[in-house]
Amino acid sequence: MDIRRMFIATLFSLPFLSPMAQEKSQIRISGSGDRIIPREIYGHFAEHLGTCIYGGLWVGEHSAIPNTGGYRNDVLQALKDLKIPVLRWPGGCFADEYHWKDGIGRAEDRPRMVNSNWGGTIEDNSFGTHEFLNLCELLGCEPYVALNVGSGTVQEAAQWVEYMTAADGPMAKLRKQNGREKPWRVKYVGVGNESWGCGGSMRPEYYADVYRRYQTYCRNYSGNQLFKIASGAGDYNLHWTETLMREARYQMNGLSLHYYTVSGWSGSKGSATDFSVEDYYWTLGKCLDIENCIREHSKVMDKYDPEKRIALILDEWGTWWDEEPGTIGGHLFQQNTIRDAFVAALSLNVFHKYTDRLKMANIAQVANVLQSMVLTKGDKMVLTPSYYVFKMYSVHQGATYLPLEVQCGSRQVRLHMGKDGEQRTLPLLGVTASRAQDGKVHISLSNVDLESENEVTVDLSGLNVSAVVDGQLLTGESMMDKNTFEHPDKVKLVAFKDAKLSDGKLLVKIPPMSIVTLQLSM
Ligand code: AHR
Repeated sequence: MDIRRMFIATLFSLPFLSPMAQEKSQIRISGSGDRIIPREIYGHFAEHLGTCIYGGLWVGEHSAIPNTGGYRNDVLQALKDLKIPVLRWPGGCFADEYHWKDGIGRAEDRPRMVNSNWGGTIEDNSFGTHEFLNLCELLGCEPYVALNVGSGTVQEAAQWVEYMTAADGPMAKLRKQNGREKPWRVKYVGVGNESWGCGGSMRPEYYADVYRRYQTYCRNYSGNQLFKIASGAGDYNLHWTETLMREARYQMNGLSLHYYTVSGWSGSKGSATDFSVEDYYWTLGKCLDIENCIREHSKVMDKYDPEKRIALILDEWGTWWDEEPGTIGGHLFQQNTIRDAFVAALSLNVFHKYTDRLKMANIAQVANVLQSMVLTKGDKMVLTPSYYVFKMYSVHQGATYLPLEVQCGSRQVRLHMGKDGEQRTLPLLGVTASRAQDGKVHISLSNVDLESENEVTVDLSGLNVSAVVDGQLLTGESMMDKNTFEHPDKVKLVAFKDAKLSDGKLLVKIPPMSIVTLQLSM
C-alpha cells in the first residue's frame, strides 16, 4: 500500500472521523383523520407513595418551600405547563387501604395510619379529599378518584361520592363544615385498584359481582355525572377482561388496564441509570409491546361491546426500575434518562392509534415515583426527560389524529416479560401526527437508533403545507443522560432547524437518539 492510501485508510478507521451512519425512512401522512386524540390520553397519577404527594406536590402552607396554600409552586407551574387533563388519586395499592374520613377536618385532628404497601411509612392524612380536589381545580384538570373496595365498605364509598358531589344532604353538610360550600365536579371514579392483587386478591368472577354492587351506590348527585371505571387486568390477563366484560359490562363506563415496562416482578428490575445498549433496545421493544397488549384486550372488549361504548382506561403505565440506591425502600424513587423519554414518546404514539377504544392513560407517577414528570429534593425540583416528551407532545392533546404509513429500518429484540421470550420487531423510527384545531399540523418523530442519523422524507401531498413553523428536539450525549439536582438542565428541549420543504415533501435529518416535534402551517 502506498503511503497516501495508507493514510486515507487509517483516517477512515478512526472512529471520531468516520462519517455518521445513516438510515433512510419514508413517511406518508393522510391528509384527513376522523378521530380526536382525547386529552385524557395525557393523564397522570399521584399516589400516597414515597414522596409523590408529601414533598412532591404538597409541602403544607407553613413550609419554607415556596407554596400556594400548601402546594409547591415550582411543581404546580411545571404541571400547569403540561396542561395535565386528569389526575388519578389516592392510589394504586394505597387506595384499597385508604379511609377517606381520616383525611378531612382539621389536619392536626386527622388520625395517622401505616402505609403498609409502601415502606410502612406513617401517613398523617394531611393531604386528603379537599387538598386533592382543590389541586385539580388549580391545575384545571379532571379528578379521577379510586375508591376503596379491598378493605372499605360500600357505605364508605357511597358516602365519599356524596361528600364530594352532592349539593345537599348529610355528607354535603359535613363538607360545608369543613370549609367547602360548593360540591366539586368529579367525573371519574375507579371501583378499586388491581383487585386481583393488592386490591383484595379477588378472582374476576367474584370481583365482577363486587363491582356491580359497589357501583350501584355511587350515585349521580346535583347534576354531577359519574364515569365508572372497573378495576382491570395487568398485562395480558385477558381472562380478567373477558370475565368483567361478560358479567358487568352494563354497569361500567370504563375498564382499566395496567402495563409497565419492567423486566419482571421478582428480583432486580435493572438500574434506571446504568444499562447496556442491549438493555436500551430491549426496553423499547417491551414498551412497544403495549400495542399488542391493547389490541388483545380490545379484541375481547369488541366481542361484548362492538359499538365501543366502554372505554379502555390504561390508568397505570411507564417504566419500573430498581429504586435509586440510597433512597427509602418501598418508595419507588427512580431516576429518568433519555431511555425513559423514548418509552414515553413511543407509548404515546401507540395510544394515538387506538383512541377508538383507549380513552385515557395515566403515566405512573407524576412526582418522585417510577417514571416521573418531576423529581424533588427539599426546595429543588428537576424536570425529567419524560416531562419534556409530555411537554413537546402536548400539541397533540385534543387534536385530530392523522393516520400514516412508515417505511424504516428495524431491529429484532427479545421480550423478557409479558409475552416472555418472544421476538419483537423494533422499528428504528417512531412517528405520530395530528392536526390541531387551528389547522396546524404537528409531526413527532423518534429516531431510536443510538448511532445513525435518520434522513426522513415525509410525503405531504394530502396536507397542503406551506411552511415549517417550529421544531423542537430532545436528545442527549448518551442514552443514560438525565437531569440531576446538581445538573438540572443536562437534558432539555432545544430548537430544531434541520427540516425543509421541497416539492411537497418534508425532508428531515434527525440526529441519532433524538425525539423531534415539528409544527407545519398551511
Ligand atoms: O404505581 C405503583 C403501583 O403499581 C400501584 O400502587 C399499583 O396499582 C401497581 O401495582
